[in-house]
Amino acid sequence: MNIAPLIETARALVADGKGLLAMDESNATCNRRFASADIPQTLEMRRAYRELLLTAPGLGDCISGVILVDETIRQAHADGTPFVEVARHAGLRVGIKVDTGAKPLAAHPNERVTEGLDGLRERLQAYAAMGARFAKWRGVMAIDGARLPTPACIAANAHALARYAALCQETGLVPIIEPEVLMDGTHTLQRCQEVTEAVLRSVFEQVSLQGVVLEAMVLKPNMVLAGLACTAQNTAAEVAEATVQCLLRVVPAAVPGIAFLSGGQSGELASIRLNAMHLPNGTTSHPGALPWPLSFSFARALQHPALEIWAGNDAHRVAAQQALLHRARCNFAALKGGYSAAMESR
Ligand code: 13P
Repeated sequence: MNIAPLIETARALVADGKGLLAMDESNATCNRRFASADIPQTLEMRRAYRELLLTAPGLGDCISGVILVDETIRQAHADGTPFVEVARHAGLRVGIKVDTGAKPLAAHPNERVTEGLDGLRERLQAYAAMGARFAKWRGVMAIDGARLPTPACIAANAHALARYAALCQETGLVPIIEPEVLMDGTHTLQRCQEVTEAVLRSVFEQVSLQGVVLEAMVLKPNMVLAGLACTAQNTAAEVAEATVQCLLRVVPAAVPGIAFLSGGQSGELASIRLNAMHLPNGTTSHPGALPWPLSFSFARALQHPALEIWAGNDAHRVAAQQALLHRARCNFAALKGGYSAAMESR
């Protein structure tokens, strides 16, 4: 295994204050989002939407790479240029989601484990040959009081993430390791911090056990947030504090970068919270520079306004691309502590 190019790619994904655009919704999820915007749920509409995203002019100024899904990596621009080429020309590294989804975890009601390890080596080899440079696998853990997630759910997902990551590195792909603690529920910020810390601790134990090279991966965690239905919501400063403290306790300094998922936060809230982690004096618990860049790898928080504006109508294509670029610029600014509400009144 020649690890040097992987280390270079992992660093490049989080370099220059840029982030990632996740556009790797499964067909079922993409169709669900299309349905709520009254867009026909067809192969061609999914292709046209992904073309709109990939060809937003200047996307590469704020975005270092895009995460595609199996259907999309095999598709092409209407002019015949494969999407992989379109992305490369736009200065975007190509990533691919390789898990096959979260399935019910046996003997653990209301918990899920992500599947897709069977045949993964061969699938990774095929994606690398198509031009992918990195991959993504998401494990999901729900909070329910003190009961969930169970240690079994945490361990099963951490194990799968580490097995996937080792296979990626063997194949020459940088693994993005995405353990997501879900926002649904009434839990407090403190409970989310406790669970996120336990999950990340388990992930890095498994990563070490399976021989994953820390320098050649990117971590994609949730921000530490109170549950959506919690009556006590927190300020951006409190979220930044809890998130940074949690990461400092468990993420080795050898990891080249951390890129948050948005998890269902609005675009604006995600930018405000990301910005709060990048203010000049740092957070109270850690003034000054952190060991790793903190970046973003958002799907909904980057795409949502663009999808609503497009609504399947080609006449709205340019306006939709502008909406995507706007959110990308807001998050790019947030990585320098330069985002403010004024950016929203364009
Ligand atoms: P969200 O930013 O919408 O949470 O999506 C990120 C992602 O890649 C989910 O796997």
